[in-house]
Amino acid sequence: MSENLQNGGAGGLILGIESSCDDSSVAVMDERSFELKFYEKISQEADHAKYGGVVPELAARLHTEALPRILQRVKPYFSELSAVAATNTPGLSVSLIGGVNMAKALALALNLPLIGVNHLIGHVYSLFLGGEARFPMGVLLVSGGHTMVLDIDAAGGIEILATTGDDSFGESFDKIAKMLGLGYPGGALIEELAKGGEPRFELPVPLKGDRRLEYSFSGLKNAVRVQIEKLKEAGELDERAMRDLARCFEDAACAHILDKLQRIFELRRFTRFGVVGGASANLHLRGLLTDLCERAGCEILFAPMKFCSDNAAMIARAAIEKLRKKEFVSPAELEIIPHLNLRSAFE
Ligand code: KG4
Ligand code: ZN
Repeated sequence: MSENLQNGGAGGLILGIESSCDDSSVAVMDERSFELKFYEKISQEADHAKYGGVVPELAARLHTEALPRILQRVKPYFSELSAVAATNTPGLSVSLIGGVNMAKALALALNLPLIGVNHLIGHVYSLFLGGEARFPMGVLLVSGGHTMVLDIDAAGGIEILATTGDDSFGESFDKIAKMLGLGYPGGALIEELAKGGEPRFELPVPLKGDRRLEYSFSGLKNAVRVQIEKLKEAGELDERAMRDLARCFEDAACAHILDKLQRIFELRRFTRFGVVGGASANLHLRGLLTDLCERAGCEILFAPMKFCSDNAAMIARAAIEKLRKKEFVSPAELEIIPHLNLRSAFE
């Protein structure tokens, strides 16, 4: 095996690729200073908007166009690279394959070690883009694919404390936005609409009073669907009603997140708590979590707004940890794993 493949190239830069869903992104980060030397993301949101959600075949085709276009601009850094990394789990298989295959080809062509990154761990490292990671900490991950509360120990070992059995937090915003004909992705659209809304509809806070540490958003989504149908039948689904409904939905979804977290905070004493994932951009949720952490005497950390949603900077940053431990994988062995097995998700 060449020295590069065992120890990493001498250049000191790491190239990260993210293509797990509908964003094609490439980043180049300095492995020692964490300086982001190059960052680009081509989002497919507008292409999927008319379908009200991500269409896998379309996502795959768009990644195939976008990734090589970005790569052209990264070429000047090739001679300084130490390793190449790509998200290989979890995500849409047809999307993951675009980034993973590009990483494999680069690793082979440039004789560099290859690193596979778990997308969820990437989100955790969005908290530490510019510096060393500091664990232990609790983490709330709220994205389009996942809703999870994690307990990360001092050595970086991860325990999943709560997760969702059906829709995720972000996905529920997407589905309500689709019902209201707002477009995709729905998170920011619902948040904006909710700003002018009155809390006049009674919607259930899921699993309220249930001691299970679990999230579930499908019942709330159905309650909103029923309310929309009632309003439509009465000819009352006007802009005012949509605002009020968005407000009530956002309140209930965030109250559900808080309700279970309050219980978790009674069981675990976190000194630091991080909030990551695309939906962590929600300001209402941020406000509630900031209050919760203040009451618990716990420091709260958010990823920068620009890096809450999927991006390759967090993938490059997470890969630096693996580069330090020389956790490399050969191009023949790097597998795409679309679905996480929760028991072994972070092993
Ligand atoms: O992390 P991310 O970019 O992709 C996944 O890994 O899934 O998260 C995207 C999700 C979408 O469901 C989007 O609607 C949601 O994050 N989101 C929000 C907000 N901004 C994005 N949800 C609620 N409020 C927001 N402001
Ligand atoms: Zn994500």
